[in-house]
Amino acid sequence: MKKFILLTTALLAYSLSILSQQHGWQEAAPGVWHLRVGQVQPITLLDAAAVEPDQEALGRLPFPEFPLDPEKISAEIIEGKTYLRFPLERNEEIYGLGLNFKTHNQRGRILNLHMDHYGGKDNGRTHAPVPFYASTRGYGILIDAARYITVYAGTAIRVDADDPPELQDRNTDPNWSAQPYSDAVEILVPADGADVYVFGGPTMLKAVQRYNLFCGGGNLPPKWGLGFTQRVPTLYSDKDIIKEVEEFEAHDFPLDFIGVEPGWHSMAYPCTFEWDTTRFPDPEGFIQSLQDKGVRANLWMNPYISPAGILYDQIKPFSGSHTVWNGLVPDFTMEEPKTIFREHFMEHHIGLGVSGYKIDEVDGFDHWIWPDVATFPSGTTAEEMRQIYGLLFQRMSANWFREMNQRTYGLVRASNAGASSLPYVIYNDYYSHRDFITALINSSFIGVLWTPEVRSSGDAVDWLRRMQSVCFSPMAMLNAWADGTKPWSFPEVEEQVREVAQLRMRLLPYLYSTFAKYRFEGIPPFRAMQLEEGLILTSEIKYQYMMGESILVAPMFAGMETREVLLPPGRWYDFYTGELVGEEEVITITPGLDRIPLFVKDGAIVPMLKEERTRMPVKGEILSLEIRHYGKEPGVFQLYDDDGTSFNYEQGDYAWAELKVSIERNLLIPQMEVSNKEFFSYGQDPEWLFMTASK
Ligand code: GAL
Repeated sequence: MKKFILLTTALLAYSLSILSQQHGWQEAAPGVWHLRVGQVQPITLLDAAAVEPDQEALGRLPFPEFPLDPEKISAEIIEGKTYLRFPLERNEEIYGLGLNFKTHNQRGRILNLHMDHYGGKDNGRTHAPVPFYASTRGYGILIDAARYITVYAGTAIRVDADDPPELQDRNTDPNWSAQPYSDAVEILVPADGADVYVFGGPTMLKAVQRYNLFCGGGNLPPKWGLGFTQRVPTLYSDKDIIKEVEEFEAHDFPLDFIGVEPGWHSMAYPCTFEWDTTRFPDPEGFIQSLQDKGVRANLWMNPYISPAGILYDQIKPFSGSHTVWNGLVPDFTMEEPKTIFREHFMEHHIGLGVSGYKIDEVDGFDHWIWPDVATFPSGTTAEEMRQIYGLLFQRMSANWFREMNQRTYGLVRASNAGASSLPYVIYNDYYSHRDFITALINSSFIGVLWTPEVRSSGDAVDWLRRMQSVCFSPMAMLNAWADGTKPWSFPEVEEQVREVAQLRMRLLPYLYSTFAKYRFEGIPPFRAMQLEEGLILTSEIKYQYMMGESILVAPMFAGMETREVLLPPGRWYDFYTGELVGEEEVITITPGLDRIPLFVKDGAIVPMLKEERTRMPVKGEILSLEIRHYGKEPGVFQLYDDDGTSFNYEQGDYAWAELKVSIERNLLIPQMEVSNKEFFSYGQDPEWLFMTASK
């Protein structure tokens, strides 16, 4: 055995050295290979995100082989542009390539990855045009270049193709296709160099995990970030907002943070970042009154600086050649504007207790963002700046909160590769419920988080269905900036909306552990079915996804009474009743209006809070657990906990509890074992509910 291990290690070392000597691939981290093509670029996506790979966590994953035939990868510079080619096999599907809203599998599509507000077509112009794809053959590829990259994702056919399409005669062959089979992904980077990374599997999930860990591990939000958030109408004053919080209290509705929209600035579009003293005469007192009610404030902003504000003159030397709505565009690749922003934001917002930001308008709309002919004092081109601006602001602001040893959780409209660890959730102005779910599923391939935010609805059914979905997403948010809607805007479904918001609150132990697995293992918290290991799919599975390791979410849309749900291998149970619903099959459900359909794997353990609550717990609170077990199989769940707000967990201040159900003489025996009890905020005598066994 020992000899065998020595031999395979030697073979591995030998093949790795061929890989680097003959093909130029260097190991960047365990299971991650890097190839530098052409010239070093002044700034890349991973530079802008300032990623620090989690080498240790990468080292804990099983070591994969280089997943592709290096002979079949080609990289050339022709007239100052980079041409890349990667092989594809028959039946291979590829996922990712930006935050898409309508499609999952990108094979057969052409994408121009260009930062923009999503315009209704999956053509690469989107809020996170991440040049990363994961393949069903179990590997991932990242092109780390801050450029408008064109990807021919299995569309182009070369004369010298290894596996050319069959020749067909359109005159006689009814199966003739205008888009014949292609055996390659070809990529054009309009720059004289690019950094290419290959992420090993062996599964697609492992490749995605490696990508997330290489980007520093997933983001672990503060506990309050997982509670409910309401964004108030643009011109609300401090008094209106306090009244709003009181209304939430009167309706016994969860609320952890409130979004203050543009009216807090003395001028917006462009912004001053100074409080409007007519609406907010005492910002500190306002934030304090919110805090007294256990509610935090998140401030809306866009980074464009108004001539009416005190930052204008200071920032002017460090801003681009063009304006956005007459505002300056700071060059955040430079240190000076970052320092000026830091001082102002710390003194006037974060120092007063502001918990986070909504970073708006950093994605685009060509007609008002800076043009591609703009220049910036650092020499960063307009194109590069467009691709990275959202990343730069996310990283910069995340660092302010880190300095305070406080976690933040905010919103952003533009992101890109390298964002996995950044504490921001993407949103937009598009408002298709179905497409919002497709985006949520696609976010799991590219290391970003997405919220299918609720704003308004034509009727109570649509309202409830949207509310149910958003409570099963990274941020449970009602964005009432334009309409002033409240969770109870449709009184006929108020109770059902409250119930789903409460369910989210009660799922905190499960949800927080799910995010801990994103942080430490890179497993996306809300995941496409394609990422389920052991599930072989023959078609795209739309509109259903996994939340954490064992809950399958199948949202309903207005106008729909029944739907199909694909159950992966094993037995599956109804979350609410514990009843068996099927086993490795497609079922048709008619779930009624009241609840979002949720299904749970056999043997699953789901830790929940025993009691309902309207605020997420704060440090020091001890809560009672209700631990549910589903089905007939034994199971294990690793329950994570820490103080919920600081970065002390990075120094080891956290606890894992092993929740276990075993079978002895046909009986299900529960057990909870806690390590590091001082960081565990749940009582030691959980109530175990055997959801199925008792039936
Ligand atoms: C939009 C943003 C909305 C809202 C609005 C306020 O750009 O997407 O969510 O914040 O600005 O003016």
